[in-house]
Amino acid sequence: MSNQLPIGVFDSGVGGLTVASAIKAELPNETITYFGDTARCPYGDKTPEQVLEYSTEICDFLVQRGVKMLVVACNTATAVALPTLQQRYHVPVLGVVRPGARAAVRATETMRIGVIGTAVTVKSGVYERAIKSLLPKAEVYSLACPEFVPLVERGETSGKHVERIVQERLLPLQKRDIDTLILGCTHYPHLESVIQRAVGDHVRLISSAYETAREVKAVLSDQAWTADRTEPAVDQYFTSGDGVRMEQALQKWMRAWADDAFVIHVGMESLTCSL
Ligand code: DGL
Repeated sequence: MSNQLPIGVFDSGVGGLTVASAIKAELPNETITYFGDTARCPYGDKTPEQVLEYSTEICDFLVQRGVKMLVVACNTATAVALPTLQQRYHVPVLGVVRPGARAAVRATETMRIGVIGTAVTVKSGVYERAIKSLLPKAEVYSLACPEFVPLVERGETSGKHVERIVQERLLPLQKRDIDTLILGCTHYPHLESVIQRAVGDHVRLISSAYETAREVKAVLSDQAWTADRTEPAVDQYFTSGDGVRMEQALQKWMRAWADDAFVIHVGMESLTCSL
């Protein structure tokens, strides 16, 4: 395994850029190959079988291009596909659920934890299981927020219209008296300040991006696979949908890494051709 190989990161859309950005902050010498399946986003309203099929197709593509590890930067895909993906590849495959659960368990004082995510993630119960395995006495309240992902994919992350949608959707959590809320979808950190206003300052928001990046670092260090680099990275971003939209998302969310070159590849053609 060459240490210089990129880390493969995939999401149903642009939400996983929160994880890619955290990885670059934690591991500035690493190179990223990212796939955002924006043409088939959201995964949250697909069947688990479809999510598994799409996830496998994309991870096969990334592994064939050559990556030293895979990060499933999508809670929905982690919820239904992670064990299958971990068995399928010779490289380590990390998801975002356990790192998020661990951070929430560390943060909570009252053991009353909220989780928001897509319908598939919430229905899978994956966060409840992960939290309870770490803190059996925790009370976990989960809520699906199907309106949030389309907002983020359209680049709408602030303004009155967004505040109203977020506030209305999160109302049921008000009665639960939680002190910690897991943003159980990689798109939601893009709405962080709106969500914080809706639930109140006393609630600690947990994004799994940072915890996942720390886990990536731990795995690479354990295996002695960390990259050395004197030149800026050339990160590759694939989208199955609109390249302009991906470019806008990169400019907005990855600006901190502007010294590194971004190459954007558009279209499922490049995905299907390589299979
Ligand atoms: N990125 C996905 C997740 O973290 C949400 C978007 C979708 O529904 O595809 O669950």
